[in-house]
Amino acid sequence: MVKAVKYTCAFVGILFKIFPYSLALTSKYSYRGQPQNTWKELALLHDLQHISLLLLELHVFGRCHFPIFLILKLGKSSLAFVLSTVLSVTSQTFAGQRCDCSEHDMPKDRTISRLRGELHRFQEQIRKSEATKQPQKQPAKPTIFVITPTYARLVQKAELTRLSQTFLHVPQLHWIVVEDSPHKTPLVTDLMVKSGLTYTHLHMPTAKDRKLLEGDPSWLKPRGVEQRNEGLRWLREDRRAHPGGDNQQGVVYFADDDNTYSLQIFDEVGPQHVTSAFSLLMKTTSLHIREVAVFLFFYCHNCRRKNYYPLVSCQMRSTQRVSVWPVGLVGGMKYERPVVEGGKVVRFHTGWRPSRPFPMDMAGFALSLKLVLANPEACFDGDAPMGFLESSFLQGLVTMDELEPKADNCSKVLVWHTRTEKPKMKREEALQAQGLGSDHGVEV
Ligand code: UGA
Ligand code: MN
Repeated sequence: MVKAVKYTCAFVGILFKIFPYSLALTSKYSYRGQPQNTWKELALLHDLQHISLLLLELHVFGRCHFPIFLILKLGKSSLAFVLSTVLSVTSQTFAGQRCDCSEHDMPKDRTISRLRGELHRFQEQIRKSEATKQPQKQPAKPTIFVITPTYARLVQKAELTRLSQTFLHVPQLHWIVVEDSPHKTPLVTDLMVKSGLTYTHLHMPTAKDRKLLEGDPSWLKPRGVEQRNEGLRWLREDRRAHPGGDNQQGVVYFADDDNTYSLQIFDEVGPQHVTSAFSLLMKTTSLHIREVAVFLFFYCHNCRRKNYYPLVSCQMRSTQRVSVWPVGLVGGMKYERPVVEGGKVVRFHTGWRPSRPFPMDMAGFALSLKLVLANPEACFDGDAPMGFLESSFLQGLVTMDELEPKADNCSKVLVWHTRTEKPKMKREEALQAQGLGSDHGVEV
């Protein structure tokens, strides 16, 4: 009876083992007609699977599978692939029995660290082979161009630091920062240089009569208008100079410097999520669950390489025309959002003038680069009545029916219209009056 159970387990295990390969092989012929996997890659994948499983075996049970060691020594040829699949039958049949091979006497920690090294080496190899293949085989990920207006005030460096460090986590992002200033300031210049991001630094002062004065209520005049328009002007000019002209893949997003952005709004579930789900599943004691984890890991990994995300919902990077999503803490509400029925936006949940053409905050939409390039006149109207700034830009570009809802049909808040409190300087001013103010040389 025990034996029967063992053999059944082994059979299920093998099915799981063969699954990823059959899938990978099928995709060789079916995915956009591009051959994706070679035997070498599959064998490499297989070795990697075994190392991952072995690491866990050692970790959880303190025992090893002798046949797997043998396979690792055999290398990565197609023969090794076939052989190792056959041998994995044996290894799984013997799972649960104490191993009496000499490897078992090796100090566990040393073996684990050696295998970790090997795993790392294989991962590095896969990464490198992908990097060299990318230009011929894969459509590049669309770049997200983020346009951020910014102006000098006490909290500016803190805002831009937070923002830049969020963007560091987003692949293929180009940050266009436009200072509301007659010249580029050293503070922003220095911050951009050190940011580690791909960026463009511009400046465009707001006309005097359009600028908010100290003490004016913030709603009196629109903010960041000339800066966003300057960002758009630069983008159109720059993209024209690139090969591909008007037909380039890309997304444009207007991100104010004080808001809060979840990484999830930019992309599909990031690799870190897949990795942590993988680690979690690998901690289970069931060999089969671990096999499934390995399968899922490589499946997601493969899909990401092809820019195809079947297991997760895509966010703004997949924008075709104009995509939309909720914004938290805005308009005197917990959130504002487009209301989606049958996959289409039918109206907007907002507390103020829902009759506006697009009653949305700037942080709640993104548009495709193609649309921006195809409409060279589209810009923000600084004379638009209060609350109509977003509509002034979107009106000629898209209809409500065409909006693409993101963030799980606009059911999740992934962006917050946070506003930073103006810091009080009462004590600073008192100390300054005594000649004891903070050192001007220290940048804040
Ligand atoms: C709300 C919206 O979220 C903004 O997108 C919109 O531009 C603004 O209303 C408006 O109606 O004009 P709110 O938080 O009230 O935003 O505005 P701010 O965050 O103060 O300013 C928006 C952007 O413009 C920020 O990136 C800010 O740094 C920049 N800004 C502000 C300037 O470039 N110059 C200024 O004088 C003020
Ligand atoms: Mn703001």
